[in-house]
Amino acid sequence: MNEEFKVTPWEVTGKVDYARLIQEFGTEPIDDELLQRWKHVTGSIPMAMQRKIFFSHRDLKWLLDKYERGEKFVLYTGRGPSGDTHLGHLMPWMFTKYLQDTFDVPLYFQMTDDEKYLSKDELSLKDAISFSYENALDVIALGFDPKKTYIFSDLEYDKTLYRIAVEVAKRITFSTAKAVFGFDSSTNIGMIFFTSMQSAPAFLPSVQAGRNVPVLIPQAIDQDPHFRITRDVAPKLGFYKPAAIHCTFLPSLAGSAKMSASLPETAIYTTDEPKTARKKILSAFTGGRVSVEEQRKMGGVPDVCAVFQYYYYVFEEDREKLSERERKCVGGEIMCGECKQDLADRVVRFLEKHQEKREEAKDKVLDYVVSDYSAVYDRLKRPQDKKEVARLKKTMKEYYSVKEGDSILIKRTWELE
Ligand code: TRP
Repeated sequence: MNEEFKVTPWEVTGKVDYARLIQEFGTEPIDDELLQRWKHVTGSIPMAMQRKIFFSHRDLKWLLDKYERGEKFVLYTGRGPSGDTHLGHLMPWMFTKYLQDTFDVPLYFQMTDDEKYLSKDELSLKDAISFSYENALDVIALGFDPKKTYIFSDLEYDKTLYRIAVEVAKRITFSTAKAVFGFDSSTNIGMIFFTSMQSAPAFLPSVQAGRNVPVLIPQAIDQDPHFRITRDVAPKLGFYKPAAIHCTFLPSLAGSAKMSASLPETAIYTTDEPKTARKKILSAFTGGRVSVEEQRKMGGVPDVCAVFQYYYYVFEEDREKLSERERKCVGGEIMCGECKQDLADRVVRFLEKHQEKREEAKDKVLDYVVSDYSAVYDRLKRPQDKKEVARLKKTMKEYYSVKEGDSILIKRTWELE
């Protein structure tokens, strides 16, 4: 019965069997015992964990043990900026925001513009960098704490990251990369190196603090192969293995496994005009019956319905109301048209609010983005105003007086207690 499916960091196809992924990847399920533990530590269980949207983890118990003993962790997540942000991307970031609020911890957010340039034939370097900026606006719009959030792009923060990446790269063989990612002789060599860039931020907090800092990486499950490697290398470099918490994919409006950037009409983008978003939802796949009469008689099938999945994943937080909607659907009491209209209203409201915040984010970029010397230097060559030049010169002076192993940031990384 099992349909074929494939999950790699660069390709997700077919109907994903998440229980099987836990087996194949060797992660652990988030079970009731862990949920109770979570509740004990934080006071409640978030919707995304309750509903098994975040369903899998590595070393979460270890992380909670550390936390309870007063050892604070750092969050690390990221985005491959290959296009505009859609709701499927936003979902784990919203969960990351919940984590930052709940544990009051820093967040490192990596934009892998290098990765996307290397993996997408049609993407130019310039466009990848510009999507880093566009996507960062969506991250900022979610309201992360500017004092504790560090967004960086690989192509702008390369100096800091590269030093860690080479240490990682030296400890990964080509045969490991081939086995983990399925590379072959036609893979470009940038891709082979890239995983070490994605490892680097998992160790950066420790490098900056000068001692081991626990790290938790919220991520969609397709990123796990990278962090399997990171975790293997960690002890060789004297670092803690980063912990992980994995989510499933928000289904596409066409009803398939993952919202895909290559089918724009089946995903809701944060930049969509509200009326475009409404149209997309009204033409979503529901699995409804051929006629209203039949629907009344036989009911709908929420399990296969993209609209129901949207309620489940994001747009109906109330457990009772969600069950009520499911019951009415199965019982033929509510028709697909009505269900879609309700969802469209909610999505539009969400988008309008998000787009407002996204506009405001344009004035806040410098409060969040960290960059290193090369970028400072680049901007110095094109000075904007005197104050800016003075500030950058000071940063450069610090740069020259820096000791080996130190790093200089435009924005100072939060001092870890
Ligand atoms: N490679 C990820 C992507 O293509 C982006 C990413 C970088 C990431 N670091 C991460 C995702 C850490 C999750 C956690 O989207």
